[in-house]
Amino acid sequence: MGDRAAVMPGKDCVKVAVRVRPFNKREKDAGSRCVISVVSNIITIQDPRSVQVPRSFCFDYAYWSHSGFTRDCSGLYVPEEPGGRYADQDSVFQDLGKGILENALQGYNATLLAYGQTGSGKSYSMVGYGPNKGLVPTLCDRLFQAIRANQDSRQCQVFFSMLEIYNEQVVDLLSRGSRAPGGLRVREEQQRSFYVEGLRRVPCDSAPQVEQLMEQGTRARTTAATHMNANSSRSHMLIILQLKQIFSKESITKQSNINLVDLAGSERQRASGSEADRLKEGTAINLSLTTLGHVISALADVAAGKKVVHIPYRDSVLTKLLQSALGGNSRTVMIAALSPADICYEESMSTLRYADRAKRIQNRPVVNESPTERLVKELKAENARLVQRLSRLGHEGRRAEDETMELRRLLTHNELQIRAIQMLWEQHQQEALKDWEQQYAAITQERRMMQMHPYLLNINEDTQLSGVVKLFIQDGDWDMGLSDSSPRSISIKGLGIQDRHAVFSNVQRRVYLTPMVGSKVIVNGTLISQKTELQHLDRLILGSNSTYLFIGYPSERGGDDWSRYDYDYFQSELAAAKGIHLHTLCEEETKGDLGLCPGNTNPSLLAVFYDYIKLMPMVADANQMSQELQKGVEFKLEIKNLALSDSKGHDLEKVLAIRVTSQENKQVWLWSKAKFVNRKFLMEELYQQHVEITGGPDRAPMPRDRDPFWDPLEPLLLGSAHLWLQSLAFRISLEEQLEVLGSEGTEEAILQVQLLPCSPTGLPLGEDDILIDPSLLLGKRLDFQLVLDQCCGIRWVKQARNRGIQIGFRMYDSARPFYTPAVWHSINPLLGQRVHFTALHTSQGLLEHLQTSALVLELWGLQEGCSDLESSEVGVRKTPDGFFIIDQTEVADTAAIVPPVSEVSCSMRALQLYVEELGNTNAVLRTENNTLKEQLNTARTEGGRGRPDRRDSSVRPSCEAEFARALKVFYHSMTSVRGQLQRLRRNRPSEDSDLMALRLFVEEQSGLLCDFSVMHEQSVSALKQDVAAIVRRKRERSGIWP
Ligand SMILES: Nc1ncnc2c1ncn2[C@@H]1O[C@H](COP(=O)(O)OP(=O)(O)O)[C@@H](O)[C@H]1O
Ligand SMILES: [Mg+2]
Repeated sequence: MGDRAAVMPGKDCVKVAVRVRPFNKREKDAGSRCVISVVSNIITIQDPRSVQVPRSFCFDYAYWSHSGFTRDCSGLYVPEEPGGRYADQDSVFQDLGKGILENALQGYNATLLAYGQTGSGKSYSMVGYGPNKGLVPTLCDRLFQAIRANQDSRQCQVFFSMLEIYNEQVVDLLSRGSRAPGGLRVREEQQRSFYVEGLRRVPCDSAPQVEQLMEQGTRARTTAATHMNANSSRSHMLIILQLKQIFSKESITKQSNINLVDLAGSERQRASGSEADRLKEGTAINLSLTTLGHVISALADVAAGKKVVHIPYRDSVLTKLLQSALGGNSRTVMIAALSPADICYEESMSTLRYADRAKRIQNRPVVNESPTERLVKELKAENARLVQRLSRLGHEGRRAEDETMELRRLLTHNELQIRAIQMLWEQHQQEALKDWEQQYAAITQERRMMQMHPYLLNINEDTQLSGVVKLFIQDGDWDMGLSDSSPRSISIKGLGIQDRHAVFSNVQRRVYLTPMVGSKVIVNGTLISQKTELQHLDRLILGSNSTYLFIGYPSERGGDDWSRYDYDYFQSELAAAKGIHLHTLCEEETKGDLGLCPGNTNPSLLAVFYDYIKLMPMVADANQMSQELQKGVEFKLEIKNLALSDSKGHDLEKVLAIRVTSQENKQVWLWSKAKFVNRKFLMEELYQQHVEITGGPDRAPMPRDRDPFWDPLEPLLLGSAHLWLQSLAFRISLEEQLEVLGSEGTEEAILQVQLLPCSPTGLPLGEDDILIDPSLLLGKRLDFQLVLDQCCGIRWVKQARNRGIQIGFRMYDSARPFYTPAVWHSINPLLGQRVHFTALHTSQGLLEHLQTSALVLELWGLQEGCSDLESSEVGVRKTPDGFFIIDQTEVADTAAIVPPVSEVSCSMRALQLYVEELGNTNAVLRTENNTLKEQLNTARTEGGRGRPDRRDSSVRPSCEAEFARALKVFYHSMTSVRGQLQRLRRNRPSEDSDLMALRLFVEEQSGLLCDFSVMHEQSVSALKQDVAAIVRRKRERSGIWP
């Protein structure tokens, strides 16, 4: 029967299930919304930024594991009420695992793939956590149950293998020997199927044995991650179960391979950023997953009846090994894991599309017969024939004695062969048993040690690999480091770990840690250099990024929950020590004018924060690699725009950047996050080659254009200054010393500038031309000049004299930025730049811009070997005199002016209103003034052609000029008020805000606030007084009052 099934292949579609996990801590912190819903086997996803109709997909199964669950006393997640909609591990097994098991028992190959972005729940479904066992352990458990139940009818053999594919290299996770450089080879068998040469196959006969092997494999994976400096989210984990069933009565042998695959995080598959890098992406990292995508697409096309010439199985290691699972001889199930959160919408959508394609693939599974077992069967048949012939020969007497001898020899040979085949299995089994016993003893020993000694517990970015390694600290002194030469050393590996990295001493039940000179040890976020006593649950970072949790003596442990000390916790703590705190980032934002309510965290800021703690360890690794490879560059994370604002004074969106500095010649680059992540892959590749070819100083140096540590030089944005344009609206000239602020609020330089209203020919306007009412400008021609006199105290040039600078800016609606010519080698260079701008018909938009905005002057740093920034003339309009024409399009968007929100901005607004009021008063005065003028004129005409009245002629200009002067003083003082306001905004409490620190901060803040209100009060009252004086004088002069 089995034989007949084997020759009748039937079509069978890949079964696809999707599963939505609960929110994780990050998502909860972010106040995420759930964008996915599940009804029956239909899953629906809503784009959080669009009101479009949500997309629905139909799969074989859709599991809602997001809500409606509780944790029972044994730690199992179960539905809140019986029959609730929550899909627990058991119900997933019932649907998916059971089918695979039944298929395997029938003799089919079976494959289970888990796909999804990192952290979406792939490992939870496949392997599981604690009591919430995933598909693999449950499947093994049921498999051995089935084997036991069917003991009478068949004899079964199970082989277990576990491997990892990282960067196209295969690592045997159960190997007892050392890892082969370059990994194991993937070979082809009879041009049909691929296998891993030399992969260890362990015979198993119980579920605990399998679990123990998985534990062993996970441990190997954890150490492989540190040895290869790899990130587990980029590796694929494969478990291969080989099941052989011998039905002696029927003389049938069935063999099936079960592939269980926990794929790498799918987020790597897409281009890491919009901007392209000079170097190609670290493609090998993605190759297997990308190729899997191509194979799936091609197979989906085949199923749809399209003509497909080539299915690229051979392009990657993973697809070679999964060839039979995809479009071949296998029954295949894919589980697509999804995050429910709005912030993961893009990834979830791409996972659903992927799954949607996968469900179309058609396989042709057949029941397999093993060649070895067929041999036994054939041998047995042959023996039976031989025995028959022998007995016949016996009847025929001694005549055929020679033939009998020959037949007997054959018979014995055959029997020996049969026995050898059977012995081999038994021998394998014996070995495995011994191995298992050893491992079991080791595990028991470890459990005992955990109850006796303090220890370090490894914490990995991948929760699945956390808590796998335990390093016990018994009585006395212990050297910890790469070296394991002495019996009193604890060997650890990892980037930046020294031979002897630190000494742990356990004296009278107290544990101390002393770092060795030059080695990096961080305890609870702080770098230490002295002997330090460790407390239960202290967080340790050794070298560049080996993270451990210190577990004290059992008496200190209590019932605390250690799970909160996950990888994120370590990194957040470290970031906090560097002054990067989620709440400070958000506070900064709420202080701004963006109208955010306090406590309502801005998702983009959260993203910056999590990017920061994600990139921080990567930066540490990159620095370590740079050091070991003698690249001479240093990487530093920077939050761009932390202290910068746009032309309206609103904070700019914060983004992460990586500052790269060459130590030798102080060259500087600024990399985007995407570029850094890509480069980090390439650096790892380079580093791995370096490690594997040890002692290779005579290797050819890498050409610069392929070096991931190198880039051509580019100008660098050092900071910006704000030149408020308000005075232009009144045609008042302005001379300012502006502070150029760097991204993080540092003073980069002082810029001396002038803003000069002028005539169409460029002659400066005088005080007589000052406008009291800016609206008079509407529709009129406005000319002004921006003069950049000098830049002083440039930090960039102070740091290295072989540098230069340029100033760049974009006036109102100019199509292109304007750059001043480069000036080199001077800390206080004269710029002497005068740029004339002309608005031919001043629009409402320009007027509003002048009254509410600033010109952002950017300071660009030049370094030797980089080309200057050039002002492009494309799209730039000029007058015949060569003046830049601005205000070419009428923008009637008044709604764009965001009303200020914060208290301080309110007082600014009040000030503005006050100014308007003064303007109105002035308008009245002006009318009055005109009347007076007329009266005077009449008086003069009536008095005949008398001597020119010097006093009279000075009345008109002097009044307005006085007022204009007063306004000028007022605007100047307002600039200081604005500066103080910025200072107030930037001021924030220190990170370790204990009560004392907070009190100090409050005092300081109220000091600043007090200064602010004094300055503000002073400028307003000065203006009031001036105006009052002008009014008084005017009335005196006109004789209205005595
Ligand atoms: N269905 C689920 N129910 C409860 N927790 C889950 C579920 N799926 C995932 N998790 C949790 O989410 C985290 C990430 O899951 P994991 O399976 O390790 O992700 P992946 O392997 O896809 O990177 C783990 O802490 C895990 O416990
Ligand atoms: Mg995982």
